[in-house]
Amino acid sequence: MNYENILAEAEGGIGIITINRPTKLNALNKATIEELHNAFKTFNEDTAVKVIIVTGSGEKAFVAGADIAEFANFSVEEGEKLAAKGQELLFDFVQNLATPVIAAVNGFALGGGLELAMAAHFRIASDNAKMGLPEVSLGVIPGYGGTQRLPQLVGKGRAMEMIMTAGMIGAEEAKAWGLVNHVVPQPELVEYCKGLAGKILKNSSVAIAKAIKAVNANYEDGVNGYEAEIKAFGESFGTEDFKEGTTAFLEKRKAAFPGK
Ligand code: COA
Repeated sequence: MNYENILAEAEGGIGIITINRPTKLNALNKATIEELHNAFKTFNEDTAVKVIIVTGSGEKAFVAGADIAEFANFSVEEGEKLAAKGQELLFDFVQNLATPVIAAVNGFALGGGLELAMAAHFRIASDNAKMGLPEVSLGVIPGYGGTQRLPQLVGKGRAMEMIMTAGMIGAEEAKAWGLVNHVVPQPELVEYCKGLAGKILKNSSVAIAKAIKAVNANYEDGVNGYEAEIKAFGESFGTEDFKEGTTAFLEKRKAAFPGK
């Protein structure tokens, strides 16, 4: 599919989505959010794609936030709709995707950019990355899940400090706080993520999808995560991947998962 604001390519089971508005530091406007939705959806439906990496073009920014120029004149109703639509199309959509999503944070990840990275299943940062939720410096609050996902990842006190000061933290601090898992030199970032993706795609994609759902269940209102886990664990026993995985182990060979 042809996109104007992003690039999407798949090779060897890994789909790479690159947000490509470098002159605007990859800021997320409405069109980019729609294209991202379509790209994530298309890769998720493609059984050949087992892992998705999302990154930003250039060496300066992952995503420098929602496009401020686009919402500067919005009314109360338009503001609420912007957040609701964005969460539905992109942020909640990515969090709940059955295919694992790794955010390769290659520079500034601010506002909606950090919110997109946090919606991904985990994050790797380049050594020059800077992260923050600067919305209150604009007179608004994070609207793409930032007030919810940041405390989940770094704890309430640190999240409150980041949100209230509107400041940025560097990659090493983000790692110490649990916001990113690893920090690597900028030129090695995507290859490093591909290496991790390579480890993931050797495993059962069906089991991974169930594990994502069970982990996410902990953060859903009115859902008991332990019960969700028990159900998904039981369901695994009915899959072809489970038969192949256990048979391969007992036969002392590598599993060739059918992904069913
Ligand atoms: N929305 C719209 N445009 C943005 C943007 C955003 N979130 N972030 C950067 N841009 C644009 C700038 O307006 C500029 O465009 P121009 O060349 O047409 O004037 C271009 O991207 C380059 O940004 P610039 O500010 O010149 O780069 P810099 O190196 O001086 O500063 C940042 C980099 C990230 C510190 C700065 O761009 C910034 O603070 N961006 C906004 C971050 C933010 O508040 N995000 C939350 C939004 S809710």
